[in-house]
Amino acid sequence: MNSNDIILTGDRPTGPLHIGHYIGSLKKRVELQEKSRQFVLIADMQALTDNAGNPQKVHENVLEVAMDYLAVGLDPDKSTIVVQSLVPELAELTMYYLNIVTLARLKRNPTVKAEMQQKGFGEDVPAGFLTYPVSQAADITGFKAKYVPVGEDQLPMIEQTNEIVDKFNSLYGREVLVRCAPLLSEVTRLPGTDGQGKMGKSTNNAIFLKDDEKIIHEKIKMMYTDPQHIKVSDPGRIEGNTVFAFLDAFDTDKVGLEELKERYKRGGLGDVKVKGRLFNCLNSELSPIRARRMEYSKDPGEVMNMLKKGSLRAREAAAQTLAEVRAALLLNY
Ligand code: TRP
Repeated sequence: MNSNDIILTGDRPTGPLHIGHYIGSLKKRVELQEKSRQFVLIADMQALTDNAGNPQKVHENVLEVAMDYLAVGLDPDKSTIVVQSLVPELAELTMYYLNIVTLARLKRNPTVKAEMQQKGFGEDVPAGFLTYPVSQAADITGFKAKYVPVGEDQLPMIEQTNEIVDKFNSLYGREVLVRCAPLLSEVTRLPGTDGQGKMGKSTNNAIFLKDDEKIIHEKIKMMYTDPQHIKVSDPGRIEGNTVFAFLDAFDTDKVGLEELKERYKRGGLGDVKVKGRLFNCLNSELSPIRARRMEYSKDPGEVMNMLKKGSLRAREAAAQTLAEVRAALLLNY
């Protein structure tokens, strides 16, 4: 990767961001902004594809997500933070791409398929939802992004984007669109505090970046450990133990953590102690983030201004791509 390569990441504004986002991607973005051109997209149009009846939720969370970004250290002078709907060029690109994607292909996207099943959509799936990978292809190609840092679940989007790129370029006989590659994050997914699947924005098993000490304390207290570890003297299991999964992600004293695990396995170490250690690790990492977030939340108008400025910069980039696309389609009247 060189410093001219463009990177794009994004989040749907359907809830505030949690510590799973933090270790899985936000930390990486803060590093990446030092060495390349990065766009970070708040995908409000994509969020509406399955929240048509709830625009208020999407609206509120645009600001929440923006404050999370700033709090973890994304710098609007180094990263271009963009609100998707403020870049209408992306919607126009989507419209043209839809003509070179088949319904059969849309229905085959494994991530969309899984989401449709989970939401019980069946044939009544909103057309916008079924086609959101095409809109995502517009996001990626609109900014000519070469790299897209993602988790496993987003790989089908990258694949579908590259299909659109190849089809477009070959149909219209010029290299207008740029292929992209995923940057897979090396961290493993953080489980939810309930130990059930992954941490989610809306599944009631997340620790949010904005949670205060008391809430974090409560959430850790409720966390699942090893159901067989009843008395302090019982030997405990590390595998599948959510508290240890979190410690693996957040405890910087790896040697101390290994010793702790050995003691836990032998027996004689209570969950309360282990949870206390987790609280300290998490809290020392989250305290400065929370403090910065508190500052930003006092001036939402200023945060909105920052978003508008970033989106305007993003519009210039997307307008350039759109002009080339329109020319390829003989729409440059
Ligand atoms: N689909 C992504 C998610 O659910 C969000 C997203 C929208 C995105 N547009 C993007 C991610 C472009 C990367 C690039 O998290």
